[in-house]
Amino acid sequence: MDLKDKNILLGVTGGIAAYKSPEIVSILKKNGANVKVVMTESAIEFVTPLTFQTMSNNVVHYKMFEQLSNMDVEHISLAKWADMIVVAPASANTIAKFAMGMADNLLTTVLSASRSKIMIVPAMNTYMLNSVANVENMNKLKNRGVIVTQTLHDLLACNDIGDGKMLEPSQIVDLIDFHLTEKDLEGYNFVITAGPTQESIDPVRFISNHSSGKMGYELAKAATKRGANVTLISGPTNLTIPNVDKFVSVLSTQDMYNAVEEYFKKTDVLIKAAAPADFKPKNYSQEKLKKTDANMNSIELVPNTDIAKHFGAIKTKQVIVGFAAESRDELNYGLKKLESKNFDMIVINNITQENAGFKKDINTVKIVDRNKNITEPGTMPKEQLSHVILDKVLEFLKAR
Ligand code: PMT
Repeated sequence: MDLKDKNILLGVTGGIAAYKSPEIVSILKKNGANVKVVMTESAIEFVTPLTFQTMSNNVVHYKMFEQLSNMDVEHISLAKWADMIVVAPASANTIAKFAMGMADNLLTTVLSASRSKIMIVPAMNTYMLNSVANVENMNKLKNRGVIVTQTLHDLLACNDIGDGKMLEPSQIVDLIDFHLTEKDLEGYNFVITAGPTQESIDPVRFISNHSSGKMGYELAKAATKRGANVTLISGPTNLTIPNVDKFVSVLSTQDMYNAVEEYFKKTDVLIKAAAPADFKPKNYSQEKLKKTDANMNSIELVPNTDIAKHFGAIKTKQVIVGFAAESRDELNYGLKKLESKNFDMIVINNITQENAGFKKDINTVKIVDRNKNITEPGTMPKEQLSHVILDKVLEFLKAR
């Protein structure tokens, strides 16, 4: 998440969901954003301005005429200050006023005067949400370029079950982050492979490895956030499927190869963060092998298709990023893979290092490009590392 030094103006309107809004401030602050809060008079009935003041470290604004600071015109200076205005929760009343261009309180006045991005996060009774007037108002705002988010389907405060619950604070902050991120990968098709593969021995057992899929999933999320069309081809993992254009679930290395082949021609960037099994059993047993079976003592293995090598050999315009998981002499082995698989860039991790490799949320890598430039970005979260990798991919794309 990259919200450092971003100015977020949070508008809070009167609704029971307002009790969750301080958490939005908290998450934004933790991620380095500057936050100011504007409340409507009815919002104050639900949460005190002091709560937001304490959490944001800023004066909370709610009176239209009494808070001129340094002779600034408050609604103009707040509107100019914000990189993004987020109204959460947004009541039907405030949505209607904003859609109509009314400016009868500080929040609606700031909204009317703003030229920055605006995100409306509705929260209300399901019948109000779906009322003809509210739907028309939300559509009007969408047509003006305002971001109007979904609501959640749940048991609501009024005891009705349906749409209308405000998104969770973490989801709201994710959306703020998404909408404030420059879409510098827009128009590019990415295929990213992630996770382990499984090679079945019999209906019960398989050969696999320790890949959790975290590195590949973070890359997929980061590329999506930057506007790329992402197809994520994943072996079995325990991770939540991220918000990507296409998610393809595979089991074996052959399945992964088939999936890459389907998309490769239209791909601009192939990132091979997966750890496909290099070998598979020569014979698959349809029946569960018994402990007493003679062939349980040894399983004959045969090499699997090397997906990266195959597509490296036939690539035309594609930028291909490989990974190398090594347990010693990583730079040497990595360089050999860069050449033999015709990668444009390789990300090398020594999986024996404490802060690197399988399952961890952080990674320590060396990145080597085809011109043998070596970058060592240091130990960092896989999310942040993904952006470092994507920055380099963008350089290759621009130079094509
Ligand atoms: O998933 P995590 O828990 O987050 O861990 C991340 C990771 C350590 C799995 C990842 O960062 C990584 O290093 N992936 C590559 C693992 C691997 O298979 O390395 P390799 O050195 O065996 O293969 C080199 C390259 O060829 C890799 O890009 C691999 O995807 C590819 N390959 C390998 C074998 C094969 N049959 N087909 C392939 O395409």
